[in-house]
Order: sequence, then structure tokens, then C-alpha cells
Amino acid sequence: MAWKIGTAAAVALVIAGVASSALPGPPVQRAAWREEYRTPAAIPFPEDNPYSAAKAELGRRLFFDPILSIDRNRSCATCHVPDLAWADGRPRAQGRHGGDLDLHTPSLLNLAWQDGPMGWDGKFQNLESVPFGPITASANMGLSEAEAVRRLAADPGYASAFAAAFPDAAVTRPRIEAALATFERLIVAAPASFDRWIAGDERAISESAKRGFDLFNGRANCAACHSGWSFSDGSFHDIGVGRDDDLGRGRLKPNSVALRYAFKTPTLRNVDERGSYMHDGSLRSLEAVIDLYDRGGIDRPSRSREIRPLSLSPDEKADLLAFLQTLTSGPSTAPVVAELTETPPRP
Ligand code: HEC
Ligand code: HEC
Repeated sequence: MAWKIGTAAAVALVIAGVASSALPGPPVQRAAWREEYRTPAAIPFPEDNPYSAAKAELGRRLFFDPILSIDRNRSCATCHVPDLAWADGRPRAQGRHGGDLDLHTPSLLNLAWQDGPMGWDGKFQNLESVPFGPITASANMGLSEAEAVRRLAADPGYASAFAAAFPDAAVTRPRIEAALATFERLIVAAPASFDRWIAGDERAISESAKRGFDLFNGRANCAACHSGWSFSDGSFHDIGVGRDDDLGRGRLKPNSVALRYAFKTPTLRNVDERGSYMHDGSLRSLEAVIDLYDRGGIDRPSRSREIRPLSLSPDEKADLLAFLQTLTSGPSTAPVVAELTETPPRP
């Protein structure tokens, strides 16, 4: 009998021990954090470029059409590949003449929720001002603005598509930009197991992933920058990664120490489908990313005050990884472009 009591007590102790070391902090805090990640009711569109189905349809056509490259052999989708979370799976983008460009192709998921500057260093003022960057860059699509407009205007199919989307059939740069941006705002990550958990299904993600969520919002401080439903504050930070001569936003804002080596916070939606990470594609796995944050990156005056060495245990690193993997919305081929409807579509 004595040994039975002993065993029961030991089991109880073990259970208590496991429970207390696994307890992530006050459950009430977890509930409050979860509120921050609810799926929004509709995709936001700016007042000066409101949603219309015809404009989005025109944007979709332009996005996938090689007509916008000088050799008619690359489109936006050459690098922003729908099946690769709208990136290209390469460390750095491939130039028109073969070699690598300087930067890693970012995912286009959930950009509708970022109304600030675009590009790793914010060189584009907003989503509308991006397209003629890649179109006219000689190492990229290599087509002049005049030639882009001329080609589209000469194509009868495009004339009717512009007439449907705008008051008349005129092809202009601002209209090309508006249509592409409208389409891109529809590129929204499909629901992931994480979203089912946020909506209340306790079994949608593992206990390890839930502990990872607590770390993400708590001690590891990731949510200081990867915040909200799209996991980005749309802002620029030096997290202590990259080459010495790679100044990021600091090249455009030379008087700001904090913006030296600062790059835009990427979304973490579908992050484990995206292969290489960071603006220069220098980290090849999510494990390597977690190790970087664990070390705290390069310690220099510009490094964000939100970044510091974390001393995560191997179990905590595994929890963080399990959490990041819950942000992937199933098979990578799943459609992630919202249905075209007459009113702004729901994500
Ligand atoms: C050669 C591959 C390539 C092609 C083709 C390409 N892009 Fe990109 N795209 C990139 C790279 C690399 C960046 C990062 C550029 C930067 O930060 O300056 C980028 C950045 C962007 C961004 C900013 C995303 C963000 O999070 O800030 C948008 C939007 C975008 N591209 C849309 C387009 C559109 C629209 C087209 C077609 C007109 C296009 N891209 C063609 C590689 C490509
Ligand atoms: C100070 C703001 C900040 C904090 C805190 C932060 N990040 Fe980041 N994160 C960024 C920025 C900025 C980048 C892009 C840096 C670059 O490309 O040079 C990034 C990149 C990443 C990437 C690569 C994504 C991609 O598409 O390349 C992952 C994954 C990531 N962070 C996860 C985390 C995790 C996990 C934590 C917590 C341990 C965390 N981040 C904390 C700002 C932050």
C-alpha cells in the first residue's frame, strides 16, 4: 500500500512539475494576446485607389503577363510565384542576364495591411509606386515606361480591359500602377491552423506551438515588430543581420543612426514555405533565424532596442519553431487570391 501511495504522489509531483514548467505565464495574458490576431473583416483599400473588380482583374492580367518585360520573357510572377508564397525560393532574385540581384525577393502576402513605404529599405513610397521599379530596371524587366504604355495601348484586349476598369480606354502609368496595386491587395494568406486556434479551436495547434506563441509575445519579444494579423508593423529596424556596406534604409536616411542597417519587417505568414530569409537571403532555415535572434545579432549602435540575446533553451527554440509553422495555410498550391466580388473581398 505504502508503495502505491508513494507512486501516486510521485506521479502527482511529476504532473505538477510538468505543468508548472510548461505554464507559459498567466493564461489571462495569453487570452489578451490572442485578441490581437483576429482575422479582419475585410481587406482595406486606400481612398485614392478604391477596390473594383474590373481594376483587380486588369491588375491580375498585368501581373502575369510578360508583355511588361523587354524580351517578353518575364513577368511579376517570375519572381513572385504564387506557389512559393509569392516569393521565388531563391536566396536572391535572378537578374535578366543570369546573375543575382542584390536583394532577396520578398513575399507579397498581406501587403494590403501595410500602408507605408514598400521595398526592404522603403525606397517605394507605397504599393502603387512599386511596379515601374522592376519594369524599368535594366537588370530586371528592362522595359521603358513609354514602351510599356505603347505595347499595352496597341493590344486590343488591354484597351477593353482599361475601358472596363477606368472611365476610358487610355493606358497611362498611374492606371497601370493602380490596377497592379489593387490586384496585389487581394494576395492574402489563406487561413492557417493558427487562425483556427485564434477563432477558438483549442486543438488546432499543438501545446508546443502554444508555448511558442507565448514566447513570441512574451520573453522573446518578436511581436514588438511582427505584430497583428499580418505579423508586420510595416516599419524598419536593424535586427543585427547583413553586411557592413549594406545600409538598408540608412542609405536613404543618412542622418538617422537608428535607420542604419534597418530593413522592413516582413510578414511571417507562410514563412516556412519561403526557403531563404532576410533582405539578403543570408539565412537558409527558420532554425538559423531563431539562432540569430537567440544570439541577438550584431551588436552595434543602430541595433533595435527590442533586440537582445535571449538565451533560449533547446525546448524553447523548438516551441518557437512549432509556432511559426502554424502560420502556414496548408498546401502551398492553395489559392491565396481572394475571390473577385463587387464589394471589397473578405480575407
Ligand atoms: C527579378 C525578380 C522580380 C520581378 C520580375 C519582380 N519583382 Fe517585385 N521584388 C523583387 C525584389 C528583389 C524585391 C525587393 C526590392 C527592394 O526591396 O528594393 C521586390 C519587391 C517588391 C514589392 C515590395 C514588397 C514589400 O514587402 O515591400 C512589391 C509590391 C513587388 N516587388 C511587386 C512587383 C510587381 C508588381 C512586379 C511586376 C511589375 C514585380 N514585383 C516584379 C523581385 C522581383
Ligand atoms: C526589432 C524588430 C524585430 C523583432 C523584435 C523581431 N523581428 Fe523578425 N524581423 C524584423 C526585420 C526588420 C526583419 C528583416 C531583417 C532583414 O531582412 O535584414 C525580420 C525578419 C524575420 C524573419 C525572416 C522573414 C523573411 O521573410 O525573410 C523571421 C522568420 C523573423 N524575423 C522571425 C522573428 C522572430 C521569431 C522573432 C522573435 C524571436 C523576431 N523575428 C523578432 C524585425 C524584428
